[in-house]
Amino acid sequence: MINTPQTTLSRRAKLFVACTLTALGISTGFFHAAYAEEQLSEDSVHLGVASCANTACHGRAAPVEHGAILQNEYRTWAKYDHHSRAYTLLKNEDSRRIANNMGIEDASEAHQCLACHADTTPKELQGDKFQIADGIGCEVCHGGAGNWIDSHYGANTNSAAFDSAAAGHQENLKNGLSPTEDPNFIAALCQSCHLGNTNQLANHEMMAAGHPRLRFELDTWLALMPPHHKVDADYKLRGKQNSATSRWFAGRIQAAQDSLTLLEKHSTPQGLIPELAIFDCHSCHRPMDITVRRSASEKQLLPAGSMRINDNALRMLAAIVSVRDKALSQEFSIAIRQLNQATMVSAKAMHSASDKLMVHIDTTKQIMSKSVLSISEQQAMTIALLKQGASGEVRDYADAEQLFLALQLLSYSKNDSSSSQQSYEDIFLVLNDEKKYTQNHFKAAVQKTLNSAMEK
Ligand code: HEC
Ligand code: HEC
Ligand code: HEC
Ligand code: HEC
Repeated sequence: MINTPQTTLSRRAKLFVACTLTALGISTGFFHAAYAEEQLSEDSVHLGVASCANTACHGRAAPVEHGAILQNEYRTWAKYDHHSRAYTLLKNEDSRRIANNMGIEDASEAHQCLACHADTTPKELQGDKFQIADGIGCEVCHGGAGNWIDSHYGANTNSAAFDSAAAGHQENLKNGLSPTEDPNFIAALCQSCHLGNTNQLANHEMMAAGHPRLRFELDTWLALMPPHHKVDADYKLRGKQNSATSRWFAGRIQAAQDSLTLLEKHSTPQGLIPELAIFDCHSCHRPMDITVRRSASEKQLLPAGSMRINDNALRMLAAIVSVRDKALSQEFSIAIRQLNQATMVSAKAMHSASDKLMVHIDTTKQIMSKSVLSISEQQAMTIALLKQGASGEVRDYADAEQLFLALQLLSYSKNDSSSSQQSYEDIFLVLNDEKKYTQNHFKAAVQKTLNSAMEK
């Protein structure tokens, strides 16, 4: 299942109340300057998770009782934190389906996916132990350790040196350790992947190909991660603040800013239609089916999640004329594809595609009015329409309804004995209740009818 389970929400609500209550009164840092995207980028060497996972460092099996830190951070991350499998999941069934719907060969090789599912540090900054398979490792959040690996133990881990903890922490920050305790920093960091930013966007095509909808609330998601640190006396000695409300607020500020940045960046369309992920999903959708599997003909037409023009009447004509002029039917289909694709190019391209189609419509009219349809032509037309329905080209209820009406009409006007009359009962049942209509049910019913029609 790729949906976040329902339980997360109730867990979330509970956590929220708990966190907010404990945080009242200690909220500071509400109005720190937010982080700009550029401030997230860094140029230190990423040594790799294995460099942190030594048992003497962060790789203990159990937390230490009286240390400055828990020292089992690696285990928590590897065992419970989903970030450790963010890369490997790009090879699973869900990712393969998403990739396939988008025409991507291998999600685990595609920058579009790696941007949020792995440590994308460039080759020249990858240390010996760096492994892409580690997914979102320590250094994605804590910063490349190249410059602070040597200096960061000691002051922070030795309890005798707690006095100098704050100074030690400042020194580490200067050497490139990320200020993960700063709500503004983590708001920008976490949301760069959990909501997207100008460099990485889970765009509408990805969503429509089956990527789970992104949602995020900083304080709750930190609790769900789960945390691998403990807020105690020495944590505060290091000068670190911990306030749930200031994290919540920093998260909301960052999300508001990000939504405007994304709007600015993606609202100027190349064709007629801007990036749909910048709009409210539910202004267009009621339920969304993220288990979609796109047929070859759909993929050929437009990328997943494209706004489609209402071309149903055109497509049906292309199927109709196939009984008298196969070549014209094919040209017609190509012109329809061009019209759809032109909507992503420019208004001019769309007008010229539309002119071409006008000519095809005229020719079709002439060819079809030459004589009355013969019985065999009616049969051929029935098969052509059924094939269109079974191919996945007919998606909406309204399109499906047209197809059904056409089939009914052809079957009545055939006037042949009732025994050889095609039954459209299966298709009718799918259309009986518009609220329950799904394209997949329709496709299956049409396929079944097509199979029995071909047997006759
Ligand atoms: C903008 C960042 C971003 C991009 C780009 C992105 N993802 Fe994701 N992906 C996420 C986040 C964040 C989650 C976790 C969502 C959640 O649970 O709230 C996720 C979750 C998933 C899941 C579900 C994981 C699970 O635990 O079941 C799959 C599968 C997935 N992504 C595949 C892909 C593929 C394939 C691509 C490339 C086509 C991709 N992602 C691109 C951020 C991204
Ligand atoms: C998704 C981001 C993320 C990843 C991945 C991550 N951390 Fe953290 N880490 C945090 C945050 C947030 C905190 C809590 C805030 C803080 O104290 O800095 C934290 C806290 C810590 C602390 C405690 C700091 C203190 O002062 O008490 C240690 C130690 C630590 N992380 C080590 C690791 C190690 C080792 C790994 C890899 C095995 C890792 N982290 C992976 C985000 C991350
Ligand atoms: C580099 C991108 C990236 C960053 C930075 C990042 N995450 Fe994630 N996060 C992901 C992806 C991708 C997943 C999905 C992994 C999976 O489902 O196995 C994920 C999953 C999670 C999950 C599990 C969600 C679920 O539905 O089970 C939580 C919780 C989470 N992240 C919290 C955070 C927090 C808090 C931060 C900041 C401290 C953060 N993430 C930073 C990419 C990122
Ligand atoms: C302006 C309208 C619009 C908005 C806003 C929009 N979508 Fe879509 N969405 C579409 C269209 C058009 C399709 C393609 C439907 C088709 O091919 O029949 C689609 C398809 C999808 C699909 C494929 C399954 C299905 O139900 O057809 C998913 C999943 C999806 N969108 C998710 C999202 C998410 C998540 C958001 C918000 C980030 C979103 N959409 C915002 C118009 C929109």
